[in-house]
Amino acid sequence: MISKLKKSSVKDSITVALDECRTKTLTLFAGMNAATFCNQPHPDFSPVGWHLGHIAYIESLWILEHSAGSPCLFPHYRQLFAADGLPKSQRVNLPKLDETLDYLDTVRKNVLKYLEVADIEPQERLWRFLIQHESQHCEIMTMVLELFNSQRLSVTLPSSSSFQPEMIEIPAGEFELGSDSMDAMDNEIPARKVYLDTYWIDRYPVTCGQYRLFIEAGGYQNSQYWSVVGWQWLQNEQVTQPLYWIEAQSYEHHPVYGVSWYEAEAYANFVGKRLPTEAEWEKAASWDVQTNRRRTYPWGDDLPTDKYCNCNGLDPMRGDAFINHTTPVNTYPAGQSAYGLYDTLGNVWEWTTSWFSGYEGFQSFPYKGYSQAYFDNQHRVLKGGSWATRPWILRPSFRNWYHPGVRQIFAGFRCATS
Ligand code: AVJ
Ligand code: FE
Repeated sequence: MISKLKKSSVKDSITVALDECRTKTLTLFAGMNAATFCNQPHPDFSPVGWHLGHIAYIESLWILEHSAGSPCLFPHYRQLFAADGLPKSQRVNLPKLDETLDYLDTVRKNVLKYLEVADIEPQERLWRFLIQHESQHCEIMTMVLELFNSQRLSVTLPSSSSFQPEMIEIPAGEFELGSDSMDAMDNEIPARKVYLDTYWIDRYPVTCGQYRLFIEAGGYQNSQYWSVVGWQWLQNEQVTQPLYWIEAQSYEHHPVYGVSWYEAEAYANFVGKRLPTEAEWEKAASWDVQTNRRRTYPWGDDLPTDKYCNCNGLDPMRGDAFINHTTPVNTYPAGQSAYGLYDTLGNVWEWTTSWFSGYEGFQSFPYKGYSQAYFDNQHRVLKGGSWATRPWILRPSFRNWYHPGVRQIFAGFRCATS
């Protein structure tokens, strides 16, 4: 009886998450025209319409084909929507929005039918993966949509209260890195104890006001702040400010974002600091030294909402109040970590110095192409999530990764010192 109850509540919680996640996905497509659906504002990113079809494809592949053992419902979509099917430049000949929505809908109906009879316990991790897969593609679609808005609108925002940018001492000691929980992705597993020496880390992400000093001091013209590789990157890119930069006083306390890892590194050098390692970031965000335990979220166990952080994209009910979507870094005191860091989850992703790789004992799940294909010392780990990140992937142990030269993602950073 007890195990039956437990089973049905797992299924219920999966059903609710699938549905809530999909509802958020579809809000991105309300009133979208055909050009926005299939155009590529940047060659490194597939059109939003491709991501939408790919979400259905992965759901069909892993639930209907692999788990339920059904034949592929839409074999003609395989080449187009599989991640290894076509090069990004050839993903523009897409079915229309309505057809793609039918595809999603048909797959989902069959998936829910299967969920009723599925033996959920051995499959739970896969279903949790699926919700997080859709969540990640949602953020990528939001990024692509942002790239169409080449003109950054500057609006007058409510003035935010001032604050002291300061560093927090994290005393030497062990903490638990990673996670073994049911929603952990393969690259978070297994959790393990890690010892770190004492270090210092910024209480807030670096703000536009702070970053402005770097720009005004000629940071983009002076090679002394840049690593050799970073300076080379800058010569190729010829940029002089962050991608999402808005020249307005009312953004002074917003986190800077739209910076590559190289820009973050140069800024850290400029102020005589460095970027944190992934372990330093995660300890400061999640470790509770009082209880000697890792917290589920920086603030505790409550799910991520706008009480604690700026996440989950624009809420249509809230309107377009924040044209740049970020919020001042001191907006969420209730979201502080045990050590007192603000804004660790939400607002902007944060670059770390760590190369993306597997923890000791790593095992691919559900396929090598999810994480293992990127263990190549070419991708840096990002932590924490942005204003666009869905709650299902917001947690201190979650690991994102990108090539250090990418600046289209919603990434900023905070600094550390030894
Ligand atoms: C973790 C965001 C880099 O975009 O390739 C989506 C996420 N993996 N489908 C990516 C992902 C498979 C991944 N990033
Ligand atoms: Fe994918």
